[in-house]
Amino acid sequence: MPRIPDDFIQQIRDANDIESVISSYVELRRRGKNLVGLCPFHNEKTPSFTVYPETASYFCFGCGAGGEVINFIRNIENLDFFEAVKLLADRSGLKLPDAQYDDTTANLRRRIYEANREAARFFHETLFTEKGKAQLDYLVRRNISPKMIKHFGLGAAPDDWHALEEHLRQKGFKQSELVAANLVRYTEKNGKRHYYDAFRAKVIYPVIDLRGNVVAFGGRVLDNSKPKYINTSDTLVYKKSNELFGLNFAKNGNDRKLILCEGYMDVIALHQAGYENAVSTSGTALTPEQVSLISRYADEVALCFDSDEAGQKAVRAALALFSKTGVKIKVIKLSGGKDPDEIIRVHGKEMFAKLLNQADNDTEYKLSKLREKFPTATDDGKINFLREAVKVLAFTDALERDVYAMRLADELGVSKEAIMQQINSVNKKEQYKKAKNELADAQKQAKELEKAVDPQRIKNVRAAKAEDTILISLLNNGAFYKKVKDKLSSDLFVTTVNKRILEVITERLEKDESVDITHLSQYLTSEEVSAVARLLANQAMVSNTVKECEDCITVLEDERRKREAPTPSQMSDESFLAFFSSLNKDDNDN
Ligand code: UTP
Ligand code: MN
Repeated sequence: MPRIPDDFIQQIRDANDIESVISSYVELRRRGKNLVGLCPFHNEKTPSFTVYPETASYFCFGCGAGGEVINFIRNIENLDFFEAVKLLADRSGLKLPDAQYDDTTANLRRRIYEANREAARFFHETLFTEKGKAQLDYLVRRNISPKMIKHFGLGAAPDDWHALEEHLRQKGFKQSELVAANLVRYTEKNGKRHYYDAFRAKVIYPVIDLRGNVVAFGGRVLDNSKPKYINTSDTLVYKKSNELFGLNFAKNGNDRKLILCEGYMDVIALHQAGYENAVSTSGTALTPEQVSLISRYADEVALCFDSDEAGQKAVRAALALFSKTGVKIKVIKLSGGKDPDEIIRVHGKEMFAKLLNQADNDTEYKLSKLREKFPTATDDGKINFLREAVKVLAFTDALERDVYAMRLADELGVSKEAIMQQINSVNKKEQYKKAKNELADAQKQAKELEKAVDPQRIKNVRAAKAEDTILISLLNNGAFYKKVKDKLSSDLFVTTVNKRILEVITERLEKDESVDITHLSQYLTSEEVSAVARLLANQAMVSNTVKECEDCITVLEDERRKREAPTPSQMSDESFLAFFSSLNKDDNDN
């Protein structure tokens, strides 16, 4: 497949300074010659995400994500390599050189976006025709204003098995594209496929991503039948667990506050009431990816979940997820209706404003849950309550701690100083434990990822280290290659990822081409690019001499001999004796 020429990659690299590109997604602080920030690829409170301007690379010591500017865009925008290059080219006013790149996936993805956009237009227009009358009546009955209908691009799927498919086929879309977009589904009967529109006789809510693409649809029935909603399944352009309904609008607010609720209709009703910062999941439990996304746009989130048991469980789960970020949480206690939409419809938006105003911050919420658990009427209850309360306060900021210590002192009749003292002692311990757990969690995750990507690494630690050193040396000193190439062959490498990296860099060094990480990116998977970034991040461990490279090659040869040696049970008595005495000899040497 044709590649993007090196000099164009170089232009992309030069025009898109890694520090400024990453800064538009992550808040970075300078640390020596590097920059650090909270990793956008996993949730953390202490920064382990590092940007290295010198090598134009980044690496997260927590989760192992790494790469250069193209890989960053690839992952944060969820694109493939070519799409990421295209985005960066557009961003810096460069034009991609004309060539037929292999972009089958990118093409299909583009077709899905186009089909979705055309479908959204079709649904929206249908809403104002005879075939969408029932749907429009429904929206009007629910007090949705014409302005909101336009703003959200709401629509109507007609009561017809093929209307959308026929419309889109006329517009030139292939059936396979519509199936890939999940707009058309099929059943199979006697080996024959029967295709039908996924959305029929529904009110349609388009889901729009942060770049303004229509990525999915939710469709609601017009009566009480079940299921209430049909949603687009995951496609090339949509991962339900990574998306938030309404974030495309909410992200534009400038106070970095969001309201997180449960349903499409809630978001729309809130927007109509003037809360343009409302977002919702699409009927699934909140995921770490969504929390990560939210923390990019908000410092404070008001949780607006149902007041029933399931809703409260969701609140606890959300608090746990957000506690791994710096985002402050408020919990809105809904009363007078089951969800914000109903509360606003029945009691007016002033009622919602009041509830939002009264919302407990997460400290208040946790303390009130503790009060329920440990009634403070008895001394015993008081002590148990305080013991737990102090743990909650240990995580709050100084101001909050002061305020609550004072209130609790009043409430329980103990001195404020005693409470503060307890808080401070717990604080030290808990903060330490928490930071340690956070790192351990992330590293465990990184290890698991590594194991999945490269199982050989764990099993061959010594060889993997030698491989790392060789690769770092070559990345830093391309000239070494000529001196070691006779002994260096990729069969010596045992770990799949390093082997692949070696193949790519030796192929380029043979042709005297650059092995700068940005130039390697298009030949590697995203995980492999991360591995190169890991090598660069660890380059201080290498002394950069030809001798060191040669020693490492010797280690690899030695490891290969060991691997190829027969196991004791496969050996004849004679060779086992020889093997055994060679082992003893090694021992004596040491
Ligand atoms: P709700 O049942 O609370 O519905 O589901 P709602 O949003 O209040 O809708 P109305 O007011 O009855 O019209 C909350 C969210 O869960 C998802 C939808 O995203 C919905 O908005 N959901 C619910 C589904 O995906 N499928 C379902 O069958 C039900
Ligand atoms: Mn509702």
